[in-house]
Amino acid sequence: MADQTKPGAGFANIRIFDTTLRDGEQSPGMSMNLKEKIEMAKQLERMGVDIIEAGFAISSPGDFISVRTVAETLKNCTVASLARASAPDIDRAWEAVKVAEDPRLHIFLATSPLHMEYKLRMTPDQVYEQAVEMTKYAKKYCANVEFSAEDATRSDIDFLAKVVEGVIAAGATTVNLPDTVGYTTPEENYRFFLTAREKAPSLNKIAISAHCHNDLGLGVANSLAAIRAGVTQVECTINGIGERAGNAAMEEIVMALYVRKEEYRAETNIITSEITRSSDLLTRITGVKVQPNKAIVGENAFAHEAGIHQHGVMQNALTYEIMTPASVGLKESNLVLGKHSGKHAFGERVKSLGYTLTDAELITAFEKFKVLADKKKQVYDKDIEAIVAKETVQVPKTFTLRNFVINSGNTITATAVITLMKDNKQIERVARGDGPLDASFKAIDKIIGTDLCLEDFKLNAVTEGEDAMGDALVIIKNESGNVYSGRGLSTDIVEASIHAYINAVNKMYYEEKS
Ligand code: KIV
Ligand code: ZN
Repeated sequence: MADQTKPGAGFANIRIFDTTLRDGEQSPGMSMNLKEKIEMAKQLERMGVDIIEAGFAISSPGDFISVRTVAETLKNCTVASLARASAPDIDRAWEAVKVAEDPRLHIFLATSPLHMEYKLRMTPDQVYEQAVEMTKYAKKYCANVEFSAEDATRSDIDFLAKVVEGVIAAGATTVNLPDTVGYTTPEENYRFFLTAREKAPSLNKIAISAHCHNDLGLGVANSLAAIRAGVTQVECTINGIGERAGNAAMEEIVMALYVRKEEYRAETNIITSEITRSSDLLTRITGVKVQPNKAIVGENAFAHEAGIHQHGVMQNALTYEIMTPASVGLKESNLVLGKHSGKHAFGERVKSLGYTLTDAELITAFEKFKVLADKKKQVYDKDIEAIVAKETVQVPKTFTLRNFVINSGNTITATAVITLMKDNKQIERVARGDGPLDASFKAIDKIIGTDLCLEDFKLNAVTEGEDAMGDALVIIKNESGNVYSGRGLSTDIVEASIHAYINAVNKMYYEEKS
């Protein structure tokens, strides 16, 4: 493998280890159900991620099932499960991940004085013993074992080097030195990895990994500094989601290497034109939008507002654009189909947008397309993507909307009459509320017999224009404190919002049953 720290070496191939489904998903408001995780995992595989960390198998039965299902589903990348350095954790992780084409066990144990004394209540000698013993234990199951020294960047470097040498001798094939609390800086992280390689020379024979959190906003810069210092794997998440301020954003690391390949002497296997779709899918699933000025995937990342910039870009895009929108998969909204288009043409378009739907999903998506094409003058790729992406992460529809009637105005209290279908039966309730949406949501609460708390509500237009579809997002919390997001699409924003609320309720039913 090329070592880009050596003069004259070729380009190093940096392995992308995506932890959106584990470190990303474990942060508040980012939880995904099984279907959503599978859909996200398939997209990560499609974009060329090398290793997908599917979850922390022992943490809950739900996590176990999702790690196992991701492991069964993906064929073209390594699938990892996280485990603490303990036998029961490793047993459970292996049970979940062993069905993968290329499984990996990822075990971790903290090595910093703070973590050893206050969290683990273990002496350094005990930590060393456990790290080595558990690596050997994991190795009995799996050839591919990653060891992470949690809080590595705040560890004593000589002790860390001893642990690293110990776990490599025990069989670790990747060693990850995380900046767990996002404390380091680029210069320091660069020196840290060079020193680690010097003090633990066996690192140079295996894969070395960086895992940088973003508490000081330096996650990506620290990952790039680690790459400069010779790491061969970086751990990151789509949109930078993750604990607290998040993890290093994959799209930013990948595009920094893509645009400044000569500078870093490194490249990745990521298909960069899949970046936007991955980011959009995650946003759709979690309901959490990235900030508009976020690098690479923010709404404004390729927008040129100032006249002088627009003029320059029109003359030659390179004046103000360091990468093309197409390189990250941003397409011009193009007119595709109309109300006379048939199912075949619709299916072909869906395929060319990169989606694989089951027959049943295609039929439902096509019905939705027809309804939309009737209401909307022009149907764009973005409209189709919004319909299809929602369809692919659809949970069973315990409730569906039959109809709604709303009476609202600025001098009366809003009243909503909502009729839902459940098991082929109509259920109708009336409620009054503070505006049409509040009244509608209360009527749905009456139907399901629970008081749900509306945690968040957002409404966006899918495309531009007066007849644009509204894309509503609701986040609800039930009495047990569990949070569910739902999305709804319609050219009528009240209808979109009601659909979104019902979608969240259906997810709640689905999760409670599984
Ligand atoms: O941040 C961290 O240290 C982790 C480890 C479990 C790899 O997420
Ligand atoms: Zn982490």
